[in-house]
Amino acid sequence: MNPPIELTIDKLVHGGYGLAFKGERAYFILNALPGESIRAEIIREKKNTSFGKTVEILHPSPLRIEAPCPHFMHCGGCHLQHLEYTEQLRFKRAILEETFLRIGQIKLADVEVIASPPWHYRTRAQFKVMKRPGNVQVGFFAVQSHRLWAIDQCPLLADRLNELLRGIQAEREGFLKPDITAEEFQVRTSGDESQWAMDFVGQPPEFEFAEESATMVPDGNLNYQTQHGNFRVGSNSFFQVNRFLLEPLVSKSIEGASGSKALDLFSGVGLFTVPLSRDFEQVVAIEENPYAVSDLQENLRANGCANVQVLGSDVSVIHRWGPKDWEDVDFVVFDPPRQGVERGVLGQFVKHQVPACVYVSCDPTSMARDLKILCAGGYQITSTQLFDFFPQTYHFETLIRLRRPISS
Ligand SMILES: C[S@@+](CC[C@H](N)C(=O)[O-])C[C@H]1O[C@@H](n2cnc3c(N)ncnc32)[C@H](O)[C@@H]1O
Repeated sequence: MNPPIELTIDKLVHGGYGLAFKGERAYFILNALPGESIRAEIIREKKNTSFGKTVEILHPSPLRIEAPCPHFMHCGGCHLQHLEYTEQLRFKRAILEETFLRIGQIKLADVEVIASPPWHYRTRAQFKVMKRPGNVQVGFFAVQSHRLWAIDQCPLLADRLNELLRGIQAEREGFLKPDITAEEFQVRTSGDESQWAMDFVGQPPEFEFAEESATMVPDGNLNYQTQHGNFRVGSNSFFQVNRFLLEPLVSKSIEGASGSKALDLFSGVGLFTVPLSRDFEQVVAIEENPYAVSDLQENLRANGCANVQVLGSDVSVIHRWGPKDWEDVDFVVFDPPRQGVERGVLGQFVKHQVPACVYVSCDPTSMARDLKILCAGGYQITSTQLFDFFPQTYHFETLIRLRRPISS
């Protein structure tokens, strides 16, 4: 391994890296803040780019704080614990604005930032199991690697999940039995922590520990109770992991929206579909994951939503729609995965001049690309909110509402 290299950090960039330059080479360094002089260990190199992490701080930034978690910069889960929380929010807002300008040529005005309680917000975690002869470890991937970093608690997780993790760590020798094949597992809890579930890939050991103050759901179907409805969420369905911002995200997304027909594209288990069904005469929900579709159908039944048509399909099904299908559509929710919305799907939406939409995304890059298409198609941004769904990490959710000018 090369000796650590001395660098001065220019700015904080996407990924939570401090960026520095030396000659032709760009250095992306974790645990480094603008203005700091540091020594960094280089972990990975590409053509003109190196990735690494700080091993010594020569001249600290006044914004630097002591990371509260002892696993910070060993475990790969967090990127920003060394930055005070309000500064994390300032950084994320700057990244959002810069990304929209660079990729979408869109100048975002008045970005409202919605903070989260910065710890114990997560209701889901995925752990790895690493077996060696006579030894087993449970934890997350180590920073910038696929090695395992063992942990017994994580301050991002709801307390219930940390209790479960402690129970599993106490009994982890069970993974060593020859017939046990599980190499990873997921733990989940409902927003109020009254229920929990563990989902294993492969055959898990028999755990003896009891979690008496909450109910284990053996079929993995958790019940999340929210102000917008109750949601069954199975182990293979997507559901937002920040239990504190889930409700405000939905409220802000659909606030004041009502009319004849709403489309919920990428609907998941129906987090937006259920409240939309109260304010629109008709709703069409499109979701391709059959497990999520099954949860969605149960959630529509349980919440009394009789006016929803479910299409268990890729959203590109809308290419086959005729003018009748688009008639009366007055609102669309786009909540796509990281890669964003296919260009042709956005094209259909623009072509049929749907009056208004909301776009929710965890990836500012694909979102800026897609918003460029919508803005070029005549839509105007009416509000932008940054929801900090993932404190201590560089990730966040963005919610943008758009509408066509009344005269067009
Ligand atoms: C970010 S999640 C949003 C789910 C839901 N709106 C929520 O907030 O709970 C994206 C969802 O889109 C689904 N999905 C991904 N690609 C899709 C596609 N091409 N067509 C339809 N659904 C898709 C995923 O299965 C997932 O449920």
